[in-house]
Amino acid sequence: MKLAPSILSADFADLAAEVDRVTEAADLLHVDVMDGHFVPNLTIGPVVVSAPRKRTELFLDCHLMIDNPAVLIDDFADAGADRCIVHIELGDPRPLFDELRSRNVGVGLVLNPETAIDAVLPYLGDIDLLLVMSVNPGWGGQGFIPEVLDKVRVARTVIDERGLDVEIEIDGGINVDTAPAAAEAGVDILVAGSAVFGAPDPRAAAHAIRDAAEAVSTR
Ligand code: DX5
Ligand code: ZN
Repeated sequence: MKLAPSILSADFADLAAEVDRVTEAADLLHVDVMDGHFVPNLTIGPVVVSAPRKRTELFLDCHLMIDNPAVLIDDFADAGADRCIVHIELGDPRPLFDELRSRNVGVGLVLNPETAIDAVLPYLGDIDLLLVMSVNPGWGGQGFIPEVLDKVRVARTVIDERGLDVEIEIDGGINVDTAPAAAEAGVDILVAGSAVFGAPDPRAAAHAIRDAAEAVSTR
């Protein structure tokens, strides 16, 4: 099981130290990019991707909650993003995939809690990562929506049956209590923001979440 701390819940006044705090326990870092349009909240952009890029070798995964990712993909690539995850709710993602591949940036596709799994199935052969949102995007610290696990199970079955090299990630409300159910449903990567950076010891919290998941899953 992989764990991706979400820096959205980190202390931005001390971002480098926050990254250092979780580096030993993290498999990758999750960066939540919000534009105030696709979601009401406004967070960070390529400038704040380039900052941790200079400080860490960790894989930087950028979750783009923005209306027009096409205009920023070059900037994220230049900033050192290892992968960009785009929302299916924006429409046909294939042009974005082409753009990302041309810049040698990994390709992720994400769906919101109310979006049916059928919407992403046609693209599974084109992506590296499928992200299933387990909260409505916009803020950290929300409660986990367990119903989305049905979509994880469907995706797990299809990916395994087709022998695809696609990881399944879940994002929102993941902590020691919810991680086991997500693991059982078949996820490969857990994103956790507030449960990691809101804890007194973020590194220990990250280990505890992964351990809780690995107790029920061999992934
Ligand atoms: C929500 C973001 C999440 C968020 C998760 O829109 O996509 O990545 O940081 O935060 P927690 O783990 O606190 O739910
Ligand atoms: Zn996210």
